[in-house]
Amino acid sequence: MAKIPETVTALTDKDERALVELAYEVSLKAYAPYSKFQVGAAVRTTKGTYVGCNVENGSFGLTSCAERNAVFAAVTAEGGKIKIEAVAVYALSPGHKVKTASPCGACRQVLAEFGREASVTFLEANRFHTMKLDELIPAAFELY
Ligand code: THU
Repeated sequence: MAKIPETVTALTDKDERALVELAYEVSLKAYAPYSKFQVGAAVRTTKGTYVGCNVENGSFGLTSCAERNAVFAAVTAEGGKIKIEAVAVYALSPGHKVKTASPCGACRQVLAEFGREASVTFLEANRFHTMKLDELIPAAFELY
């Protein structure tokens, strides 16, 4: 296992750090031969914690983001009644060039389905930053 980056170990909140560590570990498994941008996500629900990494495809539009893969793993394990409490995202790029990596719009929408109040921790300007999902997607689409 590669050494955990300092951006992660610098986190003082224990629960937050544990979730970011999981996101970091799973980012190492990402399949990202095209973008070389490996993303890991960890989603904590009221009952358990689930991870996902991005999985790219030679037909680029079929790529699946880390955050959505983590949400789908949570639903697969617990069923659709999950409540997401916290999310952590870690991104690894060659030479650590990418210093900011918040969930994309599509992933924000998917996360919002299961917990508008969730806290989301992600790299911004090379430091971890936490925001409420509601702040990241204030007017999420809701069908019913
Ligand atoms: N990616 C994610 O996994 N999550 C996001 O929120 C944005 C982008 C992935 C998709 C693709 O494999 C790579 O990052 C570059 O866009």
